[in-house]
Amino acid sequence: MDQDNNQNKQEVVVSLSDISKTFRDFWLRPTVKAVDRLNLNVKRGEIFGLLGPNGSGKSTTIKMILGLLKPGSGEIRLFGKAPTSAEARAKLGYLPELSYLHPFMTARETLDYYAGLCSLPKKIAKERSNELLEMTGLQEAADRPVGGFSKGMARRVALASSLIGKPELLVLDEPTSGLDPVSTDEVKTLIKTLAKGGMTILMSSHLLADAQDVCSSFMILNHGKTVAEGRVGQINGDLGAFFLSKVGEGRDFKIAPFLCVETVPGGAK
Ligand SMILES: Nc1ncnc2c1ncn2[C@@H]1O[C@H](COP(=O)(O)OP(=O)(O)OP(=O)(O)O)[C@@H](O)[C@H]1O
Ligand SMILES: [Mg+2]
Repeated sequence: MDQDNNQNKQEVVVSLSDISKTFRDFWLRPTVKAVDRLNLNVKRGEIFGLLGPNGSGKSTTIKMILGLLKPGSGEIRLFGKAPTSAEARAKLGYLPELSYLHPFMTARETLDYYAGLCSLPKKIAKERSNELLEMTGLQEAADRPVGGFSKGMARRVALASSLIGKPELLVLDEPTSGLDPVSTDEVKTLIKTLAKGGMTILMSSHLLADAQDVCSSFMILNHGKTVAEGRVGQINGDLGAFFLSKVGEGRDFKIAPFLCVETVPGGAK
């Protein structure tokens, strides 16, 4: 039994081999190489953090994993299948970077809508909606239109929607972005609880403290290329400091001359 569990944990759920993606303009001239020869493996039960500064290729990679964008070259496999295959899609849940919710639908109706997309029978849909509304702390607001929800509440509705199909792989693009510290903490606890329940989670983030708290493994991208990868537990100290050492210490800003106030002692000339 233990051996079975260990073998299961070794199962590669997401694999990217030599993936590249170049965006092109209307005349097919290359504009940006968003992902450059990326190799990545996510094993069952992991919480894998795809990290990197703005524009480093995290969302592009996620969209390719989901089959929403076609890679320019390389191969992607989810559970050993193509991302666009029905088998892979049935096991997938996705929280997009921006929560696209219909403002006139209530939280409960939103969940019912996504349950319908997963072809869930009505009875199961109702049970799961109730459980997810409870799990995400939305029971009291369940019958209010989501258009009136705060950013954190809307994020929780989107997260609940991504879980209605009982995914084996949950892909979260910036799950804690825009959330206050309390909601952030709740979402992080929720992610860890889901992983303990056996779900595999791939999340992108540029919030490194959050990634350090939640992720078991990570990869740092910069300009579409891998600059570091490994187990979070093996980082000596702070993931933020490690990140900066890999993607640069930040830019030294030279003040625009018209902004200089000459009377400031020691101010820029
Ligand atoms: N549809 C698109 N058309 C053209 N260029 C794109 C498109 N999507 C992304 N890009 C470019 O690809 C690069 C990577 O973008 P991507 O959105 O993957 O970055 P990211 O790491 O998710 O950034 P952020 O942290 O800001 O969300 C950027 O230079 C971006 O401008
Ligand atoms: Mg992004």
